Amino acid sequence: MLLITGGAGYIGSHAVIDFLEAGYDILIFDNLEVGHIEIINTLKKIGNVKFEKGDLRNLADVQKLFNNYKIDGVIHFAAYALVEESVKNPSKYYENNVVGTLNLLNTMIKNDVKKIVFSSTCATYGEPNYVPIDENHPQNPINPYGTSKLMVEKILDDYDKAYDLKSIKLRYFNVVGADSKCRIGEWHDNETHLVPNILKSVLQESKEFKIFGNDYNTKDGTCVRDYINVEDLVQAHRLSYEYLLKENKSDVFNLGTQNGVSVKEVFETCQNVLNKKINYKIENRRAGDPAMLYADTSKIYHVLNWKPKRTLEYSIKTASEWEKRNEQQK
Ligand code: UFG
Repeated sequence: MLLITGGAGYIGSHAVIDFLEAGYDILIFDNLEVGHIEIINTLKKIGNVKFEKGDLRNLADVQKLFNNYKIDGVIHFAAYALVEESVKNPSKYYENNVVGTLNLLNTMIKNDVKKIVFSSTCATYGEPNYVPIDENHPQNPINPYGTSKLMVEKILDDYDKAYDLKSIKLRYFNVVGADSKCRIGEWHDNETHLVPNILKSVLQESKEFKIFGNDYNTKDGTCVRDYINVEDLVQAHRLSYEYLLKENKSDVFNLGTQNGVSVKEVFETCQNVLNKKINYKIENRRAGDPAMLYADTSKIYHVLNWKPKRTLEYSIKTASEWEKRNEQQK
């Protein structure tokens, strides 16, 4: 059985579908603080999914999980992931993302489970010295969220040497889109991300879309990011896990598209996909936003033969279908 932590959340739930469709039996562990029980119920209809509610910060919850199930490997998504919040409340981030992960790793070692795919982030790089960013770029995070993920990367390296725990660390760029069949999608109760915020401004009259800063040193003054489709992204987790099973070797990969796209370009693509004029307002820069982040993804292409297939237009289309459906369901 494959343990997926955070499987009720945005990226974790898409990974559950991908692994289910490839024939895996899945055990989801989630505290449902950010994730949703409705998502679990949908996933249960798709394949063999067990769900245990619990919290990684509570060692007894984690131990119980490993006592009650025969776990072969772990895909570890559960974490807090908001940069701005991490600056205001670092303790929350270190407790959950680092201490919680330590509870998981220590319990894995005790139970002789030695394979894990870990969700890391481009936020571990900090302000880039160059773009596209490859995996050898220095890691100097500029916020506690990025630092918490870098700490886990280092712990994983040490646990490999000391306990033979093999890991694949995946450094995500900006994840967008929803399930092709519109069964699940991005669902954050306090939404901060770009594409859902644009879509919400179309669907909910009270929500105005704001562009945070148009005075960056970029092609059109707005921040440049690398938007990777969630279904492409989760497929790389399966390839990573299968690589661990076959090669028993730790590694680290960027997950992006190699395309730098500005906030204005994302906004214009949304207008084109929805065939609608959307209003917006220019606001001040958001604290902690680097001007430009996009990935060099040649390593994962060479090692795992993975490359993204879906376009930004497709991601926006699926995200928009999900957003509409979820608004109606709520
Ligand atoms: N933005 C807006 N308006 C909005 C929301 C976002 O202009 O309403 C802008 C942001 O300022 C930024 C870009 O759109 O320039 C992307 O912002 P997101 O919040 O969608 O994503 P981030 O790049 O801030 O964050 C993502 C992940 C984090 C990760 C980070 C690494 O969500 O988990 O990349 O930098 F840490």
